[in-house]
Parts: sequence; structure tokens; C-alpha cells
Amino acid sequence: MTKPVRKAVFPVGGLGTRFLPATKAMPKEMLPVVDKPLIQYAVEEAIEAGIEQFIFVTGRGKTALEDHFDHSHELEDMLLEKGKIDTHKIVLDILPEPGSVFYTRQMKPNGLGHAVWCAKELIGDEPFAVLLADDLVMAKGKCCLRQMIDVYNETGGNVVAIEEVPREETNKYGVLSVMSDDGRIAQANGLVEKPNPEDAPSNLSIIGRYILEPEVFKELAKQERGAGNEIQLTDAMAKTMDRVEFRGLRFDGRRYDCGSKLGFIEANLAFALERDDLRDGVQELLKTFSQ
Ligand code: G1P
Repeated sequence: MTKPVRKAVFPVGGLGTRFLPATKAMPKEMLPVVDKPLIQYAVEEAIEAGIEQFIFVTGRGKTALEDHFDHSHELEDMLLEKGKIDTHKIVLDILPEPGSVFYTRQMKPNGLGHAVWCAKELIGDEPFAVLLADDLVMAKGKCCLRQMIDVYNETGGNVVAIEEVPREETNKYGVLSVMSDDGRIAQANGLVEKPNPEDAPSNLSIIGRYILEPEVFKELAKQERGAGNEIQLTDAMAKTMDRVEFRGLRFDGRRYDCGSKLGFIEANLAFALERDDLRDGVQELLKTFSQ
């Protein structure tokens, strides 16, 4: 019997240097895809997946994130006064249930593993999800995290979302060493963080969605540094593989790497093309570029 996955961690302490100067005074997770910040897509995915508690691991200069998920009384009053009822609803719909959001600060940018470790007291002894907001997923059918939780509820163990990437890009990801693979779920017996293409055990790469057993905290507590001299989540997951099964799920949908400029632009186009109010306009616009 698995325990229910009720809590999600959002590591949002990163500096976002790839998007400077846009991210000088604004968290990278607040960059909008069409008209919604990246972090809101991630939180909405977690809500859709049934998550009840939202744990943000923040850092300096990230208060805009806290404000985004809180009331803005002046704005709400002004929208009501002006009769902008639809917009008022959009602003209220952002708000999570009172008491369901928790913030803790990473204090030092020591890597993804360290960020997750900072949430350990808030997680306790139960399975939890981790969502990286700059991996934006447009799912087919159920959202990506829900698809993963469905697998977890059957199997337990650690479950991550995976994608096949071109060989030359393995140095951007955590990569699986696969022991069995049915074309949808790959069971792994090893993991390497950002291997060079010639050293990569496969081209199956982790994207920013994880369901983890709390066992991982035992390894993260050792604070061992790996690739890039950072405390890597990948390394900690790899070290629990002798006792925690590890599966990668090829989810139904597409992931956009909003940590890269091209991926971010592509996500904006893809999400705009899904919108009834924007599709025609964007298609017209795109034609003017292809001439
Ligand atoms: C992190 C993880 C990596 C994973 C990637 C997914 O890397 O360390 O294993 O594949 O997220 O986006 P980052 O992109 O933070 O360098």
C-alpha cells in the first residue's frame, strides 16, 4: 500500500541568470507564458493532480511569488468598482486554499538537492512531488503529475517524468541507466547527472517532475556534492536505488524548456495557439514571419 501524494515542493530559489536582464528584479518563475506566470502553471498542475499542500523553497528577491498567491485588496476593489467582474474572477481564482501554502528559504544556491532538502521538515515521512516551473508541460488528457501519481499509486517507489532527448543534449539533464523498458515506463538501476554524450547510459532524461519517497532525505542529509559542485537530487535518488525502485514515465504530452530562450518563445506560441481568443491572430502573425 502506498501513502497518498499530498504535498508538492516548488524549488524557486534559482537566480535565473539565463534571462537577465528580465530577471534582475523579478523571479524567473514569474515570467509569463501568454498571460500567466510559469509558477502558476506548475501550481495549477499540482492542484489538478490532487495535491493539497504547496511548499515553495524560495530565496532572496522572490517576494513577488508570495504576493502572487495572496490577495491584492486594492486591485480586487478597483476591479469591482470598475465592474470588471471577469478579471476580478481571474485574480481570485489564483488563490490557493488558505493555510495550504508554505514558504521556506534555501538561503544558499547549493543545488536542486539542497533546495528539496530544505523542505524536509514540511514533508515529514510521506511521498511528495517536486515540480520545476521552468519545465512547462502541455499534457494530452490528464496533467503530467496526475499521470505520474497514477503510476505511483500502482507501484510505489520513485517516479520521474522522462523524455528522449538528442544525444548531444544529455549534458543538460539527469539521465537514466535503464534495466527494463516497456515503451512507456522505464525502470532504472542507475542515474547520472548531466553526463557528456559519450558517457551517457541512455538518452532518457528526467524533466522537472518527480514523485519521491521520503527515503531520499537520508541521502540528501549527507550534503554530498556532485556535478557542478552542487548537491544534486539526481545523486541522492541514485543512492537510494538499492532500496527504492525507480521508474521513469514517458508521459502523454509535450514539455517546453522555459529555462531556455527558444523553448520559452516556443511555449508562448504553443499555449497561445491553444487559446480561442488568440489562435487566429497568432496564426496570421506567424504567416508574416514565414514570408
Ligand atoms: C535539473 C536536474 C536535472 C533535470 C533537469 C530537468 O537540472 O538537476 O537532473 O534533468 O532539472 O529540467 P537544471 O535544469 O536545474 O540544471
